[in-house]
Amino acid sequence: MLKMKDISSGMVIPRRIVLFLVFICFLFWSSTALTNDQDFAALKALTDGWANIPEKWKGEDPCGDEWEGITCNNSRVVTISLSSMGLTGQLTGDLATLSELQILDLSYNKGLTGSIPSNIGDLSELTTLILLGCGFSGRIPDTVGSLKKLVYLSLNSNSFTGEIPASIGKLEHLYWLDLSDNKLSGSIPVSDGTKPGLDMLLRTKHFHFGINQLSGEIPPSLFSSEMLLIHVLFDNNNLTGRIPPTLGLVQTLQAVRFDRNELSGPVPSNLNNLTSVSELALSNNALTGPLPNLTGMNNLMSVDLSNNSFAATRFPAWFTTLRSLKTVIMERTGLVGQLPAEFFNIDSLQTVKLKNNQLNGSLDIRGRYTRQLELIDLENNSIDNVDVVLGNNFTLMLTDNPYCQRGLVKSPYCSSKLQETSYSTPVFCVTYKCADDQMSSSNCKCAYPYTGTLILRAPSFSAFGNDAYFNELQKSLLGSFVNFSLPVDAVSLSDVSLDTFGYVSMHLAFFPAGQNYFNRTAVLKLGFVFSNQSYEPPKIFKPYVFHADIYTHFEVSESDLCITGNKSSTHTIAIIGAVIGVVILLLLLVCAGFYAHYQKKRANKAKQQANPFVSWDSHGTSGDVPKLKGSRFFTFVELQKCTNSFSEANHIGSGGYGKVYRGVLTDGQIVAIKRSQQGSMQGSREFKNEIELLSRVHHKNLVKLIGFCFDHGEQMLIYEFIPNGTLLDSLSGRSGIQLDWIRRLKVALGSARGLQYLHELADPPIIHRDIKSTNILLDEHLNAKVADFGLSRLYGDADKGYVTTQVKGTMGYLDPEYFQTNQLTEKSDIFSFGVVLLEMITASKPIQQGQFIVKQIKETVDKSKELYNLCNIIDPLLRSSTIALVGFDRFMDLALKCVEEFGVDRPATGEVVKELENIMQMAGMNPDADSTTTSQSYEGSSTGQSFNHPYSGDSLVR
Ligand SMILES: *[C@@H]1O[C@H](CO)[C@@H](O)[C@H](O)[C@H]1NC(C)=O
Ligand SMILES: *[C@@H]1O[C@H](CO)[C@@H](O)[C@H](O)[C@H]1NC(C)=O
Repeated sequence: MLKMKDISSGMVIPRRIVLFLVFICFLFWSSTALTNDQDFAALKALTDGWANIPEKWKGEDPCGDEWEGITCNNSRVVTISLSSMGLTGQLTGDLATLSELQILDLSYNKGLTGSIPSNIGDLSELTTLILLGCGFSGRIPDTVGSLKKLVYLSLNSNSFTGEIPASIGKLEHLYWLDLSDNKLSGSIPVSDGTKPGLDMLLRTKHFHFGINQLSGEIPPSLFSSEMLLIHVLFDNNNLTGRIPPTLGLVQTLQAVRFDRNELSGPVPSNLNNLTSVSELALSNNALTGPLPNLTGMNNLMSVDLSNNSFAATRFPAWFTTLRSLKTVIMERTGLVGQLPAEFFNIDSLQTVKLKNNQLNGSLDIRGRYTRQLELIDLENNSIDNVDVVLGNNFTLMLTDNPYCQRGLVKSPYCSSKLQETSYSTPVFCVTYKCADDQMSSSNCKCAYPYTGTLILRAPSFSAFGNDAYFNELQKSLLGSFVNFSLPVDAVSLSDVSLDTFGYVSMHLAFFPAGQNYFNRTAVLKLGFVFSNQSYEPPKIFKPYVFHADIYTHFEVSESDLCITGNKSSTHTIAIIGAVIGVVILLLLLVCAGFYAHYQKKRANKAKQQANPFVSWDSHGTSGDVPKLKGSRFFTFVELQKCTNSFSEANHIGSGGYGKVYRGVLTDGQIVAIKRSQQGSMQGSREFKNEIELLSRVHHKNLVKLIGFCFDHGEQMLIYEFIPNGTLLDSLSGRSGIQLDWIRRLKVALGSARGLQYLHELADPPIIHRDIKSTNILLDEHLNAKVADFGLSRLYGDADKGYVTTQVKGTMGYLDPEYFQTNQLTEKSDIFSFGVVLLEMITASKPIQQGQFIVKQIKETVDKSKELYNLCNIIDPLLRSSTIALVGFDRFMDLALKCVEEFGVDRPATGEVVKELENIMQMAGMNPDADSTTTSQSYEGSSTGQSFNHPYSGDSLVR
C-alpha cells in the first residue's frame, strides 16, 4: 500500500510500485483499443501487400482511431469501403477472417488483381460485395453462393472468366446482380432439382449480364411469373436460339436488352403483355417472322429492332398509339410502303432512325411534330418526295433515296453528314487559367475534381442536343450530394456520346467544396454512392453504371493550394527569366521612345479622324458630345477584332435588341458586347442620353458599363463580363453550381440592393422594367449583379417575350397593375422581384406547363403548416439540404408581399432590402460583409490559415 506521506513528501516511490503502475497502464491501454484482435490482424494481413492504403492507417486500432473507410460495431469491423483509392495488390484469404464484415466495397481500384479467394464464402454476414471496376480475373468462386445474406453483388467491369456460378441461385435475398463487362462464357445456369440456378432468384430486380461471351440458348425456365425483375440486360453476348416466351410472364420488367446476340426465330407474341417496359432493344440478332406487335407496351419510350431478318412489312400503324415514344430505331428491318404521316404526331418523339429499308412514296412531315424532334434518318430508302414545314429544327437525312438522286436541287436533306450535337456544362469562367492538372469548375475555381464516366445502359432518350435532360441530371446529382452530406460544390458534365455497345456515356466531374481537393473520406464515400447505386437519377437515366477515375490528389502541398502559386523549382528559373526580361524590356523601351516620337504626329491625326464624337455630329441633331463618367468609346473595328469578327463562338446570348458577344480587349479584360440589330436602333440623341445615364450608374450589384460604340452605323454597349452566368442558369442546374440557402439569401439581397440604387439613388431614378432571373448575373464569388437596366427604354419591341409595344417586360414577371393601367412605378419592379424570390424558392420558371408560380403558391400557402405547406413545391436541393432554412417564413412573407396585386400593398425597395438584411442576420451572417474582401480570402486559401470560404458567410454555416 502506498502511503500518503510518501507522495506528499516527494520521496522516491519504490520501484515495485512503478512497475505495477506501468503494468496497470498497459492493461488499461490494451483494453482501450476498440478493435477486436482477430479483425485487426486480418485487416493487417489483407492489406499488407497493398500499395496506396490511406496514410492514416497507423497503429493497431482501426475502430478506435477511425481509419478511413473502416466502420465498426462492437469492436468488430463491419465495413471496408475503399472506392477509388488507387489500391494495388491482391485479395487474400485473410479476408475471410473478418467474420462480421457486412459491406466490402473496393470499386474503381484497377490495380487490385488476381482471383477472388474461395473462402470468401465464409463471410456469413456480408450483404454488399462490390468489386466494380477492379482488375480481378479467374473464375467467380462457387462459394459466393454461401454468402447467405448477400443483397448486392456487383462484379462488373473486371476480367472474370468461366461460367456464371449456379450457386448464385441460392442467394435468396439478392436484389442486385451485376456481372456485366467481363469475359464470362457458357450458358446461363438454371436449376434442375439437383443444382441451383438463377431462376431461383425471386427477389432479384436486376440481371445485368451485358458485354460478356455468354452462349447457348436462354433457358425458358429462367423466367417465371413469380419474378420481380425490372432490368434484364443480356446485350452484347453470343446467345443463340429463341427469345423464351416465359419472358412475357415477368410483368415487372422495365428495361429489356437482348441486342447484339445471335438470337433467331420469331419474337414471342406475349412480349406485348409487358406493359411497364420502357426500353426494348432486340437489334442485331437474326430474328425472323413478323415484326413484333408492341401495341400493349403503353410505356415504351425507346425501341430498337434494327438489323434482324423480319418479314417485309408496312410501317405498323399501331406505332402511332404508343404516346411515350422518344426513340424509334428500325434500321434494315424490311419496312416497305409509305411512312404514315400520323407517326410524326407523337408528342414525345425525338429520334427516328429507319435507314436501309424500302420505305417509298412521299414523306409527309407537315404534321404537328414537336419541338423535341431532333433526327429523322431515312438514308437508303425509296422516298421520292418530301413535304416538310420549313424552319423546323430537326435533321432530316435522305441520302440514297430517289429524292436525292434526282439531282435537281442541292437539298439540305441530301448531305450525309450528321451534325454532332453533344452536351457540355457551359464554361463561364474564361478568365480562369488553371494549373495543368487542375480544372476550372463552373464556379470558377481551379481544383482537382473527382471524375469518371457515367454510362447509361438502356437510355430511353436520344436527344443529346436537349439541355433540359442534362440540367436535370446535374441538379439531381447535386441534390443527392447534399442529401448524403458530401462536400461537392459544383458538377460538370461533358462529352455525351453513344458508344458501340449501344450505351450512352458522358464525362462527369465533381468539384470539392471549401478546398480544392477531396480528402480520402469524401472520395471513398463518393465512390460508394455510385458503386452501390445510392445515387438514384431521374428515371430516364436508369439503369446506369459509373466508372470513377482513380483519385490521386488527397494531399495537396501548400504551394499547390495557391492558384497562381509557383513551384519552388520553377521559381529560380522565373527569377532568371525576369532579369533577362527586364534588360530586354529596357532596350525595347528606348527603341519604343524613338518610335513613339516619330509616330506621334501620325497618331494625332488618326485620332482626330477616329474621334468618337465626330459621329455624333455627323448624325445630325445630337449637338454636343456625351458627358460620360468612366465609360469610353470603342470603334467598330476595335470591337470586331476583339470578338473575332463577331464570330458564332463568341455569341453568348440574344434578346429583342440583338445579340450579345464575348470579347477580349487588348488589355486582356473580358467584356460582354450588346450589339443592337437593325430595326431596334434608336436615334443618336436617345442613344447618347442613354449612355450618359448608364455611365453614371455605379454600384457593386449592377453590371458596369465600360463603354459604347456608335460607329459604322452600329450601336453597341460594352459591359463588364460576369463569369458565372445568370441566376436561372444556377437554379435550373445548367451551371452545375450548388446554390444553397445562404447563397440564395445573398443573391436576393445583392439584387435588391442593386434595385434600390436604381430606384432611390440614381439621378434620375431608373425603373428597370425587366427584372427576371436571366437579368441577374452571378460573378465569380456568386455576388449578384443586375443587368439590362435602362435598356428597356431603348430596345425590345421586337422581342417575342414582350407583350405589347407599350407595356414592356417579360411574361410571368409582369406587374398586373402596370399591365392594366400602363402606369409604371418602382412597384412594378418590386412585383417582378417578388416573382424572382419565388423562383429562388421553387427553382421553377414563373410560368411552367401553363401554371403561374404566383397563383400556384398563393393557392398552396398555409402559414400554419411546416414550410408554409410548400414542401412539394420547394426546390428539392433546398429541401434535402442540411443547411437549415433559417428565415424561410420571413422570406416567403416578403416574397408574397412583393407580388400583391396592387402596388400600394407592396413594400418599398428600401423595405425589401432591410428585411433581407434582417433575414441574413437571422441566418447568422453579416449582410454588410464586403464581397471584395471575401474574394481575397477565396484565393488566399494558400496562406494556410483556417479556410474562409469565399461565398461570404459560408464560413458561418456549420
Ligand atoms: C396487335 O395486338 C393487339 C392486341 O394486343 C391487337 O388488337 C392488334 O390487332 C394487333 N395488331 C396487329 C397488326 O396484329
Ligand atoms: C411502295 O411500295 C409498296 C409495297 O412495296 C407498293 O405496293 C407501292 O406500289 C409502292 N408505291 C410507290 C409509290 O412506289
